[in-house]
Amino acid sequence: MTQGGLFLTFEGIDGSGKSSQARMLADELRKAGHQVVLTREPGGSDGAEEIRNLVLQGDPDRWSAETEILLFTAARRDHLERTIQPALAAGKIVICDRFADSTRMYQGLSRGDLRGLVDQLHSLMIGREPDLTLLIDMDPDTGLSRAKGRQGAEERFEDFGPDLQRRMRAGFLALADEYPHRFRVVDGNRDIDSVAQDVREIVSKVL
Ligand code: ADP
Ligand code: TYD
Repeated sequence: MTQGGLFLTFEGIDGSGKSSQARMLADELRKAGHQVVLTREPGGSDGAEEIRNLVLQGDPDRWSAETEILLFTAARRDHLERTIQPALAAGKIVICDRFADSTRMYQGLSRGDLRGLVDQLHSLMIGREPDLTLLIDMDPDTGLSRAKGRQGAEERFEDFGPDLQRRMRAGFLALADEYPHRFRVVDGNRDIDSVAQDVREIVSKVL
């Protein structure tokens, strides 16, 4: 397995500010002289980006939750093999916008309790957790209106609506309690620079 490097992930509901914070942190760390790979899920490698189009576009009923678990895990396996592990092995900092915790939430909780299945497949095919996970906690209605404001074709999950967003928020907070050694919760209901300041302080402690 990979040695060296540092594997950081951002998690949270749609529109919570993960992508913005991941980008700002990457810029900050690069300025400080670190080698950083900024990546995202689903995606982050050629094959996984192709799977991204399959899972994020089209009708909300396009895939069952079980099929989605397989598709997201297949994308993650490719991303891990081709992007994440080589970067960590080269001693780089990998910042990933969403990872397995998103599958634990979206596929594990949104349509029945499939968390056990997600975890089993994760341990079989992925077997790697981040060193640090920043959960951007956010009011679901604000998050949804921010996400909707973006417009675009990738709306399969946003189409599930505000009730799902509320359950995802509660689920992410419960997950942070479940894995306290790697999760840090950041209050995302503030201006972008205040959130970034908290993120910087948390990350500087693990560097
Ligand atoms: P996510 O990746 O979690 O979906 P984004 O970083 O894409 O979130 O942010 C969604 C939208 O909200 C973007 O238009 C972004 O500019 C805006 N945004 C991000 N963080 C904040 C913040 N703290 N306050 C106000 N708007 C924000
Ligand atoms: P993302 O592009 O991060 O969307 P956003 O910026 O709106 O947060 O992720 C796209 C969607 O994919 C998001 O609604 C959550 C969903 N998703 C899953 O359902 N399972 C997963 O394992 C991952 C990584 C994402």
